[in-house]
Amino acid sequence: MGQGAAALAGDTGLELVGLPPLAVYVHVPWCVRKCPYCDFNSHALQGELPEEQYLAALQADLEQALPDIWGRQVSSVFIGGGTPSLLSAKALDSLLSLLRTHLTIWPDAEITLEANPGTIEAGKFAAYAASGVNRLSLGIQSFDDHALQVLGRIHDAKQAHAAIDIAQRAVPRVNLDLMFALPGQSLQACEADLRAAMFYGTEHLSLYNLTLEPNTVFAKYPPANLPDDDLAAAMQDKVEELTAAQGWERYEVSAYAKSSRARSRHNVNYWEFGDYLGLGPGAHSKLSFYNRIHRQARLKQPESWMEQAVLRNGSHIASEQDIAHEDLPFEFMMNALRLKEGVPWRYFTERTGLPQLAVAPAVERCLQKGLLEDDALQLKASTLGWRFLNDTLEEFLEEKLP
Ligand SMILES: C[S@@+](CC[C@H](N)C(=O)[O-])C[C@H]1O[C@@H](n2cnc3c(N)ncnc32)[C@H](O)[C@@H]1O
Ligand code: SF4
Repeated sequence: MGQGAAALAGDTGLELVGLPPLAVYVHVPWCVRKCPYCDFNSHALQGELPEEQYLAALQADLEQALPDIWGRQVSSVFIGGGTPSLLSAKALDSLLSLLRTHLTIWPDAEITLEANPGTIEAGKFAAYAASGVNRLSLGIQSFDDHALQVLGRIHDAKQAHAAIDIAQRAVPRVNLDLMFALPGQSLQACEADLRAAMFYGTEHLSLYNLTLEPNTVFAKYPPANLPDDDLAAAMQDKVEELTAAQGWERYEVSAYAKSSRARSRHNVNYWEFGDYLGLGPGAHSKLSFYNRIHRQARLKQPESWMEQAVLRNGSHIASEQDIAHEDLPFEFMMNALRLKEGVPWRYFTERTGLPQLAVAPAVERCLQKGLLEDDALQLKASTLGWRFLNDTLEEFLEEKLP
């Protein structure tokens, strides 16, 4: 177990009556090229993808984590990146076999793989599906060749269209990622992108306002003609209007689903403050025990993570700590209030181990300001509180536990 979480067990005074669902995230850190706006732990691939070394490290990472999740079942798996679709069909099959050998994964678990349209082949996607992938998430970003070029994408619009077609033939569930408020984008161009995405009838869309993240090329050299705040807000309004008109439900800040069954179960588990084991470089875990809630982060550099994981002495873990009691209310709210319909209030007690009383003053302030719905059973932001989510969350940041 090395420096694993179970080794750090101590009496924290917390008492959880049960454990939440457990999801597994696997990070594949390589991309063909680094996009200038991206702050994910993704690295331009030099030469061939080191599949064997990666899989050996993943096995070592997983086996060292097992004592922390002993006896628990896994409700969803998400293979994200980076660009997991760079993995060969054989490597992906080995990856899923590895997970199945060591974990009890629900028979109907959602198994998602993120894919870049510049890396798609029909045969490979069919093979991914045969190995158990039942949901594909495609990083489309835009259907406009010029926008794709400015974003430094490795694919053009034609490849984006082809990728959707291939994905829809391969698996029953497809998500498309789009970004808006792109450099030089007009309201009409934003609308055209959205209409093109909705045309395919996939069950899920993730629609992100492009942000200039620190330590990215775009932050250092901001692109010309970025839409101003008013135009970006008009685009967000347009997105809401068009999706609602076609029956999409905006169930989370950036997530839109055709029905409640079409929601991303893996992401909903994060937002409901469920547990997750993150494997691979830079992956984060949140794991509950009966007396504490533990966070872990793995080494970010792919080479360091691969070299350390196989030593099996815990040195692939970059940091770990139990979440302090006073941080729990904010951490819980930061996730739960992103969901439009919120979560049952009982999740707060069940998943933080704190009594509802711990947040009573903050809740009272939110109610007075109209930021939360007045509902004894469901914790839910009001329309105002959801629109100004940061203001709502701030009320919980300042909260001191009694
Ligand atoms: C890990 S990437 C998805 C898969 C794959 N790597 C790709 O790009 O095709 C997750 C998604 O986050 C969104 N994203 C990444 N950086 C962003 C930024 N700076 N602002 C807004 N959305 C961003 C993109 O839509 C991207 O598809
Ligand atoms: S392909 Fe995706 S993960 Fe890779 S750099 Fe681009 S946005 Fe980031």
